Amino acid sequence: MKYLESDKRFERYTITTALPYANGPVHIGHLAGVYVPADIYARYLRSMGEEVVLIGGSDEHGVPITIKARKEGVTSQDIVDRYHNIIKQSFEEFGISFDVYSRTTSKQHAETASDFFKRLYDNGKFVEQTSKQYYDPEAQAFLADRYIIGKCPHCGNEKAYGDQCEACGTSLSATDLINPKSTLSGAEPELRETKHWYLPLEQYEEFMRQWILEGHKEWKTNVYGQCKSWIEQGLQPRAVTRDLDWGVKVPLPDAEGKVLYVWFDAPIGYISFTQELMPNDWEKWWKDEKSKLVHFIGKDNIVFHCIIFPAMLKADGSYIMPENVPANEFLNLEGDKISTSRNWAVWLHEYLKDFPGKQDVLKYVLCANAPETKDNDFTWKDFQTRNNSELVAIYGNFVNRTMVLTHKYFGGKVPACGELNDLDRQTIEEMKQFPERIGRSIEQYRFREALNEMMNLARLGNKYLTENEPWKTIKTDESRTATVLNISLQICANLAILSEAFMPMTAEKLRNMLNMEKKAWFEAGSADLLNVETALSEPQLLFEQIDDKQIEAQINKLQETKKANEIAQAETEPQKENITYDDFAKLDIRVGTILSAEKVAKTKKLLKLTIDTGIDQRTIVSGIAEHYAPEDIVGRQVSVVVNLAPKVLKGIESRGMILMAENADGSLSFVSPDKQIKNGGGIS
Ligand code: 2FM
Ligand code: ZN
Repeated sequence: MKYLESDKRFERYTITTALPYANGPVHIGHLAGVYVPADIYARYLRSMGEEVVLIGGSDEHGVPITIKARKEGVTSQDIVDRYHNIIKQSFEEFGISFDVYSRTTSKQHAETASDFFKRLYDNGKFVEQTSKQYYDPEAQAFLADRYIIGKCPHCGNEKAYGDQCEACGTSLSATDLINPKSTLSGAEPELRETKHWYLPLEQYEEFMRQWILEGHKEWKTNVYGQCKSWIEQGLQPRAVTRDLDWGVKVPLPDAEGKVLYVWFDAPIGYISFTQELMPNDWEKWWKDEKSKLVHFIGKDNIVFHCIIFPAMLKADGSYIMPENVPANEFLNLEGDKISTSRNWAVWLHEYLKDFPGKQDVLKYVLCANAPETKDNDFTWKDFQTRNNSELVAIYGNFVNRTMVLTHKYFGGKVPACGELNDLDRQTIEEMKQFPERIGRSIEQYRFREALNEMMNLARLGNKYLTENEPWKTIKTDESRTATVLNISLQICANLAILSEAFMPMTAEKLRNMLNMEKKAWFEAGSADLLNVETALSEPQLLFEQIDDKQIEAQINKLQETKKANEIAQAETEPQKENITYDDFAKLDIRVGTILSAEKVAKTKKLLKLTIDTGIDQRTIVSGIAEHYAPEDIVGRQVSVVVNLAPKVLKGIESRGMILMAENADGSLSFVSPDKQIKNGGGIS
């Protein structure tokens, strides 16, 4: 039973999730964009009794992994082993219900990807083309665009990459760079001929037009729009091989030093992982028209999943096409783009350390604020508000009130329902509509809407309790209280079923409290889920308040990151004009000790210092009051320019200058000797 007519023809669901690159851990952007919605979809369908396979794994090929390995002086395999394990563990701890989570360095994957290529090759589906590519004569290797740096022709940045200038954001070809250099050896690369295999996408243009533009107008507008724009610009042949030593080897005799392009092998991972899971039974998931193939991805992956991978599948000819590709937009963090290289992210493994046991809270917040139709922002304040005002105040509060009252008045056993009044009947009627209402939203990939509906059921419960005031009726009419609590408990039981897709850990806790077996989605909607006299467990809180301190700690952590990035990125001032030694020798710089320090009245920046310069004790006014407290610096040794002409500042004669070093964020530091030096010691 599925609610949407269009879904009724499918007998099983092949659900894939974008394979994260194994060159870093996963963060909230990954979760919000791909894994939370995919997991909700899979859990919901399983609960509807459908056959489902949820496929995931790590994307372990590609140039960035080789670059990271080289930087760290380890092998690419070391890098992917490290991150595959971290990523896999994060997903397990967050309860993403993969049926298989594998990796593209597996043996099965190499075989499947290689066979896939070979079949297309044997059937004449590729065109061979020779082109000129940069080659490093010292390292004796063709260079991926990322391995070449040079001057950006657009903004003059000297360190632009061959595929993109990170200063101005322009996409580049390596041949656009001025003064290109290989990052492998520093050598100037030369253009050499190399042969590659191309998938002639233009041959599939008409098919794409029919299949997507005519046949899938229901796709999300962001996805449909991108496909339309690609198709209308005219599709071009795409190289599916690269000159690289990390990847699946091109299975042809004359292809030494060549591997499959990472975007060719990665999506084949979906197939090879299904084979790993079901060696004898995988084909029906990929080749039977009654299987519904759905790819969950982020918006940067749209062209690969809607055009290139389908063209590969079509070229093979034996596979089904994806039925939908519900790509999400991006999630930002506190107003800035999430970035692995800038460490601007909330990493899942760190979240778990800081908020142990609160996986469902994060999943809830990420779904409630998912970037379904536009980019969205994650803020810690919003995280706190949604936890405190929604999970605690609505869901948790309703369940807790119901449980506590049942224990108080009925010894923790489900009381019998007496005669129903209009409000009871109306509430039960409303409750019955939730499974279908939430289900329809999920089937249409509207997960935010679905989650909000789930919370509406808890809202309904709260309203029902408040309107009926069972804590008052108990004094006059115990049977009325019993009825109200029975119905409230039935709402809790419905919540336990309908929230499982979104918050499985919470749903399980709730089931345990209610002493209830796991039930199917289509059993929800009933007011008879819990039998009278069922003994309930002790109430326990499902959610707890998150206080300001915890949130401030997270915000501070991000601010530290921001500072560190600013320092790393700040432009170093260009060097000043050369001076002669005689110019330099005119400066008389000595080590001195600060004897006293006080703020200069009516100024923010100035301190009046008394310095023992070894020559004399003198007053120097220094603009460091925002960086040092007077009481902290007495006794410090500093560097003093003693022969600077005196100057009167705020009525005080200042005789000399203290040398300060300035950090990228504008903070100042004394330039001090690293061991005690006699005052008056010269600095040269
Ligand atoms: O963008 C990415 O993170 C890619 N690693 C996604 C690959 S999805 C699939 F094709 F494998
Ligand atoms: Zn540039």
